[in-house]
Amino acid sequence: MKPVIISIFLISFSLSIAAVLQCYSCRAKNNVTCEPEIVNCTEGDRCVTISEYWKYYKIYRSVSKGCAEGLPCGVIPHGGVNCNISLRYNIQCCDTDLCNAKSYEMPDLGEPRGRLCPSCHKDDTIDGCEAKKMVRCQEEGDKCLRFSGTVKHPDGYVTTYSVRGCVSPMECELNLKRLVGIEVIQQSKYECTDPKGSLTEEEKLLKTTK
Ligand SMILES: *[C@@H]1O[C@H](CO)[C@@H](O)[C@H](O)[C@H]1NC(C)=O
Ligand SMILES: *[C@@H]1O[C@H](CO)[C@@H](O)[C@H](O)[C@H]1NC(C)=O
Ligand SMILES: *[C@@H]1O[C@H](CO)[C@@H](O)[C@H](O)[C@H]1NC(C)=O
Repeated sequence: MKPVIISIFLISFSLSIAAVLQCYSCRAKNNVTCEPEIVNCTEGDRCVTISEYWKYYKIYRSVSKGCAEGLPCGVIPHGGVNCNISLRYNIQCCDTDLCNAKSYEMPDLGEPRGRLCPSCHKDDTIDGCEAKKMVRCQEEGDKCLRFSGTVKHPDGYVTTYSVRGCVSPMECELNLKRLVGIEVIQQSKYECTDPKGSLTEEEKLLKTTK
């Protein structure tokens, strides 16, 4: 019995040493590279790189690296209102020392293939906007989003607006808490709902609103 206990102890001891990683850490708003420093993580952390693509008429790319625990790794939370406004970020994690060396990386999400959601955008208001168009969501299972608030863009420009569009379920849960370059200064509304209407109705609507 004793050797077993000792070997279990040794295994867990060596695991706990191996579990404390060194990672690169830095953050750049509106830049695809940042000057990394080396940090010691705490136990249970992984090394991460979060790449953020934010299009608000202009395209902003930002990146952050560091240690983190409990992130949804390997996913690309995303949202979009129309061809002028969209957000996505790529969360990459790894488990060896200094493995998060890579810079900004954003895979192509391909053609939208989800359901339809009402789409609109109005500047200088938190009172919502009237949706006269529909937008096709990126993925099957994406939700419809209503957002109103004040946002600081990665270049420091501040705008207040209301939008309706699509958002991935992951982003509904994260509720804009993992942003890199954008900062939500004030949020009046952040509401996710399931797409309404049947698929055939949606197809008809899309034809008439295109
Ligand atoms: C982007 O970051 C790199 C590395 O930190 C820096 O040399 C460069 O000047 C930055 N570019 C801009 C546009 O700020
Ligand atoms: C990280 O840990 C190593 C080894 O214990 C130590 O030499 C180094 O100074 C630490 N670095 C920082 C930034 O705390
Ligand atoms: C996107 O922006 C351009 C330029 O401001 C504008 O002409 C166009 O109508 C916008 N498209 C949508 C769907 O809002």
